[in-house]
Amino acid sequence: MSALSIEHVSKAYALDGAQRPVLKDINFAVGQNEILAIVGASGCGKSTLLRLIVGLDGDYRGSIVRGDGDTVPAKIGMVFQDHRLYPWLTVEANVDLAFDTSPLPARERREKVQHYIDLVGLSDYSKAYPRQLSGGMAQRAAIARALAQEPGILLMDEPFGALDSILRMRLQEELLAIWEKNRLSIVIVTHDVEEALYLADRVIVMEPNPGRIRDVIPVDLPRPRNRSSMLLTQLKKRCLSMLV
Ligand SMILES: Nc1ncnc2c1ncn2[C@@H]1O[C@H](COP(=O)(O)OP(=O)(O)OP(=O)(O)O)[C@@H](O)[C@H]1O
Ligand SMILES: [Mg+2]
Repeated sequence: MSALSIEHVSKAYALDGAQRPVLKDINFAVGQNEILAIVGASGCGKSTLLRLIVGLDGDYRGSIVRGDGDTVPAKIGMVFQDHRLYPWLTVEANVDLAFDTSPLPARERREKVQHYIDLVGLSDYSKAYPRQLSGGMAQRAAIARALAQEPGILLMDEPFGALDSILRMRLQEELLAIWEKNRLSIVIVTHDVEEALYLADRVIVMEPNPGRIRDVIPVDLPRPRNRSSMLLTQLKKRCLSMLV
């Protein structure tokens, strides 16, 4: 059962009057409850691909199908590469936006907002505005907002890129805990091969000009994983040999 299927997806951008191919014949499926990581050089179309999946850009060839046609397609949540918080709203109000169309009573809604803010470690900053946060804190607020939507499919575009390595590892653990609890499917774009291998069930390696899939690497290791295990080290070498 797939949560998401991408079939023969190609995309070009117009640049100086010419069509420049950005994605070429992308094919993959994301299983229910699967964590899929995408790594690849800057400019190979990773963010573009997520924008197509989430529906922000409908100008592409091929097909992107949510769900397997039988069940109701899962809600998609997205964490962008830049946090995209509303600068005029506090952290709390930004996260609360996730409940805009929700029928939840006010008290439960407040509790949920607080829960997701606590989860990303921003309890002391719920009344702060984005400009009062560091880059990493703003990114965590954006993660809280996406999680608060309680999506079935979570797309994350380099969500931990701005964080120091300790916090990064902590949030990776949080993400896995949330994933285990909520059984969601996750597609995470990262430039950190170790992060990809630590988190994912499969890692897609892309190459640029035009962006295409070079390899799909299964990571058949039970969780919790040992970051310095032999297999992860071998897989890291394999990934890096394709990327560098
Ligand atoms: N709106 C746009 N108009 C024209 N070209 C674009 C547009 N958005 C992206 N591109 C081009 O598409 C290509 C892929 O961009 P994209 O942002 O998807 O790459 P990426 O893999 O996410 O890179 P990074 O790792 O640096 O975030 C780049 O060459 C970029 O210049
Ligand atoms: Mg990008």
